[in-house]
Amino acid sequence: MIIKPIIQGMVARSAHPHGCEQAVLDQIEFVKAAKPITDGPKRVLIIGASSGFGLASRIALSFGGCEADTIGISLERDPKAKGGASAGWYNNYYFKQQADIAGRLAINIDGDAFSSETRNKVIEAIETYFEGEVDLIIYSLATGARPNPETGELWRSAIKPIGQSINSNLISLEDDTWSDVILESANEEEEQATIKVMGGEDWESWIDTLINSESVAQGCQTIAFSYVGPEVTHPLYLDGTLGRAKIDLHQTSHSLNLKLANYSGGAYATVCKALVTKASVFIPGLTPYMIALYKVMKQKGLHEGCIQQMQRLYRDNLYSENHIPLDGERLLRIDDLELKPSVQTEVSKILSEMTEDNFKEIADYQGFKSEFLNLNGFNYETIDYDSPVNIDKFVTPSN
Ligand code: NAI
Repeated sequence: MIIKPIIQGMVARSAHPHGCEQAVLDQIEFVKAAKPITDGPKRVLIIGASSGFGLASRIALSFGGCEADTIGISLERDPKAKGGASAGWYNNYYFKQQADIAGRLAINIDGDAFSSETRNKVIEAIETYFEGEVDLIIYSLATGARPNPETGELWRSAIKPIGQSINSNLISLEDDTWSDVILESANEEEEQATIKVMGGEDWESWIDTLINSESVAQGCQTIAFSYVGPEVTHPLYLDGTLGRAKIDLHQTSHSLNLKLANYSGGAYATVCKALVTKASVFIPGLTPYMIALYKVMKQKGLHEGCIQQMQRLYRDNLYSENHIPLDGERLLRIDDLELKPSVQTEVSKILSEMTEDNFKEIADYQGFKSEFLNLNGFNYETIDYDSPVNIDKFVTPSN
């Protein structure tokens, strides 16, 4: 099968296994050469492990110094599907291959993180491979829907502003076009549904499940990822439905912190930088800001990708020799470089000048698009995309 990029709107419908392998190898290479994480956790559970911050965490903790064993959960399209597997499936496959070579344990659980079946599998895996306990639980799900655990009915998130409609711009990754849009304000139901999907409730229920099954080790920590961003993004993000969900997540971190204090552990919402991932490109109106940010941070030598952010998080923050640095709201911040005034002044200037005609020139649209293609295994110079790929080699009786 010949695999070419198929992009619909902001979603990639195809993925190239060899490019996904390259992306995993590049990240491993980066953390192996980076200043190591010392005193890190040895047994790590990652909920949402196949891409973005979850995958980067897995790679940093396995290969970036502390040599952790990992159990990773994600929900993927398998290779038997028409057109082959999802990028996350290939990432899991190649991560495990590298972990096996390095003698590190990597268990991939492909299933819905919201289902009790997946939770039972995870508890069983912790029992079998981790002597019954985990040291770190990373909650890194990004999804548009979550079933109500009582009725099974789906809550669907709606990423919208609240209390006002906003004139904004969308840039389509499918055909590189710019369009003017009005982002309508969310209603109460949409706001509440987004909190249910992307807020802290499911994170808390995972930690409760693991406490109840006695799977939590002494000193166990948990983190989940958040975004705050500069003022210019607040109407789209922090003051909108997604921001409400993140505030709920921050509050959940406090109650989980109390629960894990019984194990001398802790819980932290970790605020990251805006980065190209499968999830973030989906946020309406954020792309103009992101391409301006990429341009400025790269020019200033401050740009970090997911892997750089995660290596720094575990090494210098969560497992630093000193105390965990937190802000006044008990948030762990690794968005410091993004929010530097010198960065934001230049970003604002670019945004004020950006138009349909110049967005490819005055901002880093090429870099943004290239990272998006890389996420799905495309746009690597080392790979011959005209060569057929043998997908059958990924199909085993168990998948
Ligand atoms: P991503 O889309 O790259 O990763 C999401 C992961 O969740 C994937 O492994 C996917 O398989 C998994 N997943 C989704 N639904 C699932 C389900 N039902 N069952 C099992 N696994 C499922 O997203 P990204 O960007 O890494 O997001 C992770 C977290 O980081 C989110 O909370 C996001 O809001 C947050 N964040 C992202 C930022 C960004 O710029 N990308 C910035 C700051 C925070």
